[in-house]
Amino acid sequence: MSSGHLVFDAVGKAYRARRTSVPAVVDFSLDIAAGELHVIVGPSGCGKSTLLGAVAGFTDITSGSIELDGEPLSVPGTQASIGPDRVVVFQDSTLFPWQTAAENVAYGLAARGLSRSATAAVAHDRLRSVGLEHIADRYPAELSSGVQRRVEILRALVMEPAVLLLDEPFRGMDAISRSAMHDALLQIYDKASATVLFITHDIEEAVYLGSRVTVMTTRPGSVKTTIGVPLDRPRDRSIVTASKFRQLVAEVSDAVRGEARTAFEAGEREMAR
Ligand SMILES: Nc1ncnc2c1ncn2[C@@H]1O[C@H](COP(=O)(O)OP(=O)(O)OP(=O)(O)O)[C@@H](O)[C@H]1O
Ligand SMILES: [Mg+2]
Repeated sequence: MSSGHLVFDAVGKAYRARRTSVPAVVDFSLDIAAGELHVIVGPSGCGKSTLLGAVAGFTDITSGSIELDGEPLSVPGTQASIGPDRVVVFQDSTLFPWQTAAENVAYGLAARGLSRSATAAVAHDRLRSVGLEHIADRYPAELSSGVQRRVEILRALVMEPAVLLLDEPFRGMDAISRSAMHDALLQIYDKASATVLFITHDIEEAVYLGSRVTVMTTRPGSVKTTIGVPLDRPRDRSIVTASKFRQLVAEVSDAVRGEARTAFEAGEREMAR
């Protein structure tokens, strides 16, 4: 049983584009502890989704390696196999519209061959643990997008994956739903034992959720800096006004701003050619 220790060692990825090779990620090294909630922020196009896709098994890498619990997951030229130890929650809902919330949560267990009553019991238990038992028999179309998202995260975690991968899962939500989602995710995370890799552009979100936050450089992306977030868990909204929180947000912002400026200037130079 894997525990979720994820190691990127000098990972590089170049995409082929019209006979040339475009580097997207260069020399990306990062060691994520089992059970850590690690957030990656960085300028658009720096390779965040590429890295997440390489862990999930959607894309290959061109140099370096990615290891999960000491086992190579991805080496150059070979995609990681897609496996139940790593699950992705996408930005768009992938719930089955013809299944109730409980059936959706239970989907993976049913696919594993558990009996109907056993899967229903687990699904109801998971929904109850986050105060959603009242929507167990509703269909996705009857649920708000925030509730759909929570059901989706529960569906992913019911399989007890070692790693949960989230690529800007709350983008496009209004501020109130988003903040409710943060608390819902943390509530789920605190009860689960998965390692979480969370990608976002939102710095407050990164600090509120993360155990550590890695800021990436402009493309080709590598690690610019990793900032620890020594704030106790369980966390709640009251920490966002605390000076320690504001200080961490400022620290991450400074790192991101520096990179954004570099990206902008590189773009300007490109335009001026
Ligand atoms: N299939 C592909 N073929 C060629 N180039 C690609 C492909 N996918 C991504 N790229 C390029 O690789 C770079 C990294 O892309 P990626 O999607 O990983 O960035 P990102 O950090 O997730 O960006 P964003 O913040 O906008 O989501 C970008 O320059 C992108 O244009
Ligand atoms: Mg992306």
